[in-house]
This record gives sequence, C-alpha cells and structure tokens, in this order.
Amino acid sequence: MSFRKVAIDGPAGAGKSTISRAVAEELGYVYIDTGAMYRACALKMLRKEIDISGDVNSVIKAMNSTEIEIAHGENGQIVYLDGEDVTGKIRTAEVSKGASDIAKIPEVRLKLVDIQRALAQKCNCIMDGRDIGTYVLPDADVKIFLTASVEERAKRRYAELVEKGVKTTPEEVLSDMKKRDANDSGREFAPLKQAEDSVLVDTTGNTLEKSVELLKDIIIKNLNEI
Ligand code: DC
Repeated sequence: MSFRKVAIDGPAGAGKSTISRAVAEELGYVYIDTGAMYRACALKMLRKEIDISGDVNSVIKAMNSTEIEIAHGENGQIVYLDGEDVTGKIRTAEVSKGASDIAKIPEVRLKLVDIQRALAQKCNCIMDGRDIGTYVLPDADVKIFLTASVEERAKRRYAELVEKGVKTTPEEVLSDMKKRDANDSGREFAPLKQAEDSVLVDTTGNTLEKSVELLKDIIIKNLNEI
C-alpha cells in the first residue's frame, strides 16, 4: 500500500509546525517535524561540548553512534536521542543555532533523510522542514512553500519567547532570524529553496486560523486532483 505524502517547507518562524500539526490532525495524517531531528543531533553535540561548526570530524564521528527515533504520542511527535525523550529539551536558542549549523553537514543530513524517508513509507503524513519537497520526498503528492516576511516571523517568534519567559529583545530575535535564514538558504547541500512544483503560501498578515484554513483547502484540493 502506498501512502500520501504532503511536504511543507519554508523558513524559520513561518508557522510551518503549528499549521502542519493542526492540518494533519484535521485530515487524520501523521505530522512529522524533521527540524526536531536536527535539533536532537545538535543537543547531543552541545552536551558533548563538540564545536559544531569548527570540528566537523568530531560531529561526524559522534553521529556514527547517535540514534534518533521518532514516535507519536497523544501530545504529538516525541523525539528520542539515544533512547532519551528530548522533545522538551530541544527548543532553546542555543539548540536552534546548533541545529542550523549541524544541518550544513552532508553526513548528518543523509543519516536523517534515511529516517525521514522510512517514516513516510509507513503512513499518510505531513512532513515539514527545509528540503522535503526538493530532496527528501521529491515525489510528494502535495508540496507547499510556506513563508512570511522576516519582520513578521521575528515578531511572532518574539511574542512566543516572551510568553515562555525568555529574556530577549525584538532586535535580537530579528537578527537571529536573519542569520538563520542566511545559514539555511546558503548551505551547499539541500538548502532551503522553493520546489518548482510547490504552491507558495505567504502568511504575512494572516491569523493562524486563516493560515490553517488556507493550507487545508490547498492540500485537500491537490489530493483530490491526484
Ligand atoms: O524547523 P526548525 O526550526 O526546528 O529547524 C531547525 C534547524 O534545522 C533549521 O535551522 C534548519 C534545519 N533543518 C534542515 O536543514 N532541514 C530540515 N528538513 C529541517 C530542519
């Protein structure tokens, strides 16, 4: 039996995970957050005090003994790093930066891409990331490139951080966002890039509810046309 695959790519803060999770729930699809896998690998390197961008050989060596597993619980995706549930530990600014750096290393990407492709073989899924439509699932049934202006993405991220009690400034969040965009789009191997056969959705100025509806409509319409 072959399953349906929906690929959602786009820059940080475009609302990919919140929107994908909501749409997946409505459609009865499994939501797969691939960024969480890069984050878990980055967490391992930070714990081992490996300099991710400076010491690529040590990163690759540590990756050989790294096991990343994904499960789906009542509250959504659970990420296991070497058997430990790290779902709640991978959302810090330090891990975000580390994930963007580790994602530049082809050996890391290839290992995670294998896991992502295997997951997509097992269920109807909505998978979000940066290279899903271009590299991981080039044959996805529906491809969406979700974006918003960098100012709006930074504003949303700042509000989230304030709510979590994280001390930061709007300027700092905007500057981090611009750096992450440059890092994710500028890397050589499987960079963030809109797939030619994807639908571009710009959520600037939309409420979350409006974006969820919009995406659901696009996905259902495209799946019905197959
Ligand atoms: O979606 P996120 O912010 O959790 O992703 C964290 C980092 O991982 C992001 O800066 C880029 C990288 N990433 C990637 O390169 N490819 C993916 N498919 C998903 C994430």
